[in-house]
Amino acid sequence: MERTFIMLKPDAVQRGLVGQIIARFESKGCKLVGMKLVKVDRNLAEEHYAEHKGKSFFEPTVNYIMSSPVVATVWEGKNVIAIARELMGSTNPASANPGTIRGAYGMDISRNIIHGSDSVASADREIALYFRPVEILEYDKAGEEWLSE
Ligand code: CDP
Ligand code: MG
Repeated sequence: MERTFIMLKPDAVQRGLVGQIIARFESKGCKLVGMKLVKVDRNLAEEHYAEHKGKSFFEPTVNYIMSSPVVATVWEGKNVIAIARELMGSTNPASANPGTIRGAYGMDISRNIIHGSDSVASADREIALYFRPVEILEYDKAGEEWLSE
């Protein structure tokens, strides 16, 4: 089963949006297998955004995710990486579809609420940055048989 790393960024926590955002993933059918509140330090923030090192938004984005606690989560499901990116919406909340998380809750690209892995490789890398293997739980979830054949 595929897994993805989803982070509710500092603005989501500060604005009291954690419950509403988690609810969207739950109602969609994604299975929560890891979750914790984390204060991201500089090392972790720079590792997280390593692919963007050298770009103009690298430093502001690193500072943004270090600025206040984030909620780090791991979700499991069939095609969950692509499904989560659909739920999140495009990077800039100003132009994201209003039915998406970024489109519904955000105004500006510098405060875009949420991060989600964009591939299996980045999901594996990001999950390992934030979680020890024992912090990802395996369990049977009621109703799984009603989500797909
Ligand atoms: O997060 P996503 O994969 O949608 O976008 P990205 O292109 O991988 O950029 C990573 C993060 O950098 C974004 O989520 C924004 O927080 C930030 N960013 C920004 O502030 N300004 C930009 N022009 C591009 C990205
Ligand atoms: Mg990205």
